[in-house]
Amino acid sequence: MSRRVALITGITGQDGSYLAEFLLEKGYRVHGLVRRVALEDPEHHFQRINHIVEDIELHSGSLESFASLYRVMRSVQPDECYHLAAQSFVSYSFEDEFSTLNININGTHYLLAATHDLNPCCRFYFAGSSEMFGRACEVPQNENTRFHPRSAYGISKVAGFELTRNYREAYGIYASSGILYNHESPRRGYEFVSRKITSHAARIKLGLADRLPLGNLDAKRDWGHARDYVKAMWMILQQPEPGDYVVATGKMHSVAEFAELAFSHVGLNHRDFVTIDTKLFRPAEVDILQGDASLAKEVLGWSPEVAFEDLVREMVEADLRVHATAAPPCFQESRA
Ligand code: GDD
Repeated sequence: MSRRVALITGITGQDGSYLAEFLLEKGYRVHGLVRRVALEDPEHHFQRINHIVEDIELHSGSLESFASLYRVMRSVQPDECYHLAAQSFVSYSFEDEFSTLNININGTHYLLAATHDLNPCCRFYFAGSSEMFGRACEVPQNENTRFHPRSAYGISKVAGFELTRNYREAYGIYASSGILYNHESPRRGYEFVSRKITSHAARIKLGLADRLPLGNLDAKRDWGHARDYVKAMWMILQQPEPGDYVVATGKMHSVAEFAELAFSHVGLNHRDFVTIDTKLFRPAEVDILQGDASLAKEVLGWSPEVAFEDLVREMVEADLRVHATAAPPCFQESRA
C-alpha cells in the first residue's frame, strides 16, 4: 500500500515538529511548508526539526501568496493538510493587527481555495484556538459556546474557523477544526508565558538572571502538553465525517500558579523574583479559559496524558539543560 501523504504548514514550530514526528512514526510521507528565509538559514529556523530534516520534504511558500500555496498544493497533492502556520502570538496581534489578520485569514483562505481547486479529496485540518471564545460566556467552554474574541488574533481564528466550516458545507470539502487550548512543551517559543517562566526559573537558578517581569498573574489558562494535542489533530482527520472539536485538559491554573510551580522545581520562591511590568498587560485580556473536551473524548477517544505538574517539570528541566550548556537564546522582553 502506498504511504499516505501529509502537508504541514508551520512545520518548524512547536506543534508542526511534534506532528511531523508523529506522522513519520505512522508511516506518512511528510511535507512541510516553510518560508524562503527559513530555507536560507536552516541552522536558526530548523532547530525543532533538525533531527528529522532528512526524513521530510520542505517546500518554500508564504501564507501571503496564493500563487506559492497553489504551487505547493499542486506539487505535493497531500491526502491530509494540517494548517498550523499563523501569527500565533496574541500580544503581538495588538501591535500589528493588519498583518495578523492578513496572514491568518488570507493564508487559511488561500489554502482552502487551493485544496478545493486542486485536491478536493484532501482532508483539511484548521488550527482553531480557545482565543476564539475570548470573554467566554460560560466556563468550561465547549463546541457550542458563543465566540467573543478579544484580539485581532482571536478574530482571525474565528474567521479561519468559519472559512473552514464554510468550505465543508458549501463545497463538501473534508475540513475540520480543532479548538485547541494552550499547549506547551520544551519546544515552546520564549515569548509565551509558560516558556518565559520556565526559562527564567532556570536562568535565575543558574545565576544568569535575577528577576522575571510578568504582566497579568491572575489570567487563568487550561494548559496541556503539545505532544498530546498533535495526536488529537491527527485523530480529528481520521473520523468518517469532518467536524469541530475542543481539545483541552479541563483543568485551569493561573499564571501565578504556573510561576509558583516552576520556581518550586528549582527550590526557589517565585515571589522573590517575579516583578509586575504594566507594559505586559494586554489592551483586552482573556481572563479565564477552560475547555470541555467531552466530545473529543467520546468521538475521537482522545484524552490528555500529561498532567500540568509533569508538563511544568519537563519544561523547567529542559531549560536547566539548555541554559547550563548553550549560549542563552534571544529574549523578547518588550511585549513577551
Ligand atoms: N506572553 C506573556 N508574557 N503572557 C503573559 C505575561 C508575559 O510576560 N504575563 C502574563 N501573561 C498572561 C497573558 O496576559 C495571558 O493571559 C496568559 O499569560 C497566556 O499568555 P500566552 O502564553 O502568550 O498565551 P495565550 O493564552 O495568549 O495564547 C496561546 O494560547 C492560545 C490557545 O488558547 C497561544 O499559543 C495562541 O496562539 C493559542 O491560540
